[in-house]
Amino acid sequence: MTANEMWGGRFAAGPSAIMEQINASIDFDKRLFAQDIAGSKAHCAMLVAHGILSKEDGDEISQGLDKVLIEIETGKFEFKAALEDIHMNVEARLRELIGDSAGRLHTARSRNDQVATDFRLWLRDAIDGLDTQFAALHKALIDKAEKHADVVMPGFTHLQAAQPVTFGHHLLAYVEMVGRDRGRLADCRKRLNECPLGAAALAGTSFPIDRHMTASSLGFDAPTRNSMDSVAARDFAMEFLATASIAAVHLSRLAEEIVIWASQQFNFVHLTDAFTTGSSIMPQKKNPDAAELIRAKPGRIIGSLNALLVVMKGLPMTYGKDMQEDKEVTFDAADNLSLAVAAMAGMVEDMEPNKTAMRDGLVNGFPTATDLADWLVRVLNMPFRDAHHVTGSLVALAEKNGVGLDELTLGDMQTVEPRITKDVYSVLSVDASVKSRVSFGGTAPDNVRAAAREARDRYL
Ligand code: ARG
Repeated sequence: MTANEMWGGRFAAGPSAIMEQINASIDFDKRLFAQDIAGSKAHCAMLVAHGILSKEDGDEISQGLDKVLIEIETGKFEFKAALEDIHMNVEARLRELIGDSAGRLHTARSRNDQVATDFRLWLRDAIDGLDTQFAALHKALIDKAEKHADVVMPGFTHLQAAQPVTFGHHLLAYVEMVGRDRGRLADCRKRLNECPLGAAALAGTSFPIDRHMTASSLGFDAPTRNSMDSVAARDFAMEFLATASIAAVHLSRLAEEIVIWASQQFNFVHLTDAFTTGSSIMPQKKNPDAAELIRAKPGRIIGSLNALLVVMKGLPMTYGKDMQEDKEVTFDAADNLSLAVAAMAGMVEDMEPNKTAMRDGLVNGFPTATDLADWLVRVLNMPFRDAHHVTGSLVALAEKNGVGLDELTLGDMQTVEPRITKDVYSVLSVDASVKSRVSFGGTAPDNVRAAAREARDRYL
């Protein structure tokens, strides 16, 4: 072994310890081992198919790579920081196993196109895994929405009770958000699914390689079209992080609602012991820790997006070592989003509405005031603005008397608007209100059941 384990030809001395430490990525990029080996095998097969590598060398390399894979999978592989990264670690071990022919694998290739390929392959798998998890969350939301299609609760704007809705309808709002999140992940997957392998360092290669062959054998739709872009681009990771950030924000909104709903003050939902924890000092407590942690996850996921955007900003073409900073943040975001989705799916399955508290939440705040205004428009042919004004006076009267709108006497109501008849009471109940909201996308229980069925067909 020369003084410099990797670059002995040009380097007379080894790196300083700090250089080795700042340079090494093996601690985190070892996660790319399966993709790295798959990429190398595809490259090797292509080199053989096009006469760039002999069949014998190719067979040795391919079998050697299989052995390395098994060693890593079974925990027998020794990762070395002195060998910088996963690419050099695999290649060095291959050389130990098969000897000099290992050195031929890197023909017409560079770590620049290698890492870009590995990372895209990894992210593609991560996206597929996330989509499966999001599908489970979708199922939990749709099942629960269908089950509680006619459980009434206050719908809020400004966190003020606004109009009655059903719990099912509320959950279906998240079904839509998750649907778009999955759509964004699918878009991202489609755009990233082009193969940089064969771009070599940045300019392509003089060897008669077949980039279409490696691209298709690795399941890519096509090779990337420009060799410089191939090694310089990381927008596939930025796009993933942007998508992950939006999805995490959606999860955090639902998490926050669960925190609110599970509080004693609301008591809208019950969470079992499976998704709560106790307090070390207050024996009565049951805290919604999972929901709180999901609420917090956008902190690190948006942080990851921000970190990578800032790393990439202003980087000149093509590859720069700066770009090695792309992996930890992406791994961390993918891991934490995955955990958050899994926890949310479990919590949605687990949670049961407290129907009485939800209905009680509709006693105050005059949630059927809009129904009353609509009645004035429909039955008395009042312009909506006037109806709004009359209803406002009726709300003020009810508030003064300390009663709900449906508890005002007809005589009281007629002091505000003499043409009001007792028919008005038919629209003042909470159940009548939700049943009447049959417009497309509205909260009527029959709508909710139909929407849940359609969501099932669309997403599951
Ligand atoms: N570990 C490197 C990374 O993650 C691999 C590519 C290294 N390329 C280079 N020219 N030094 O970016």
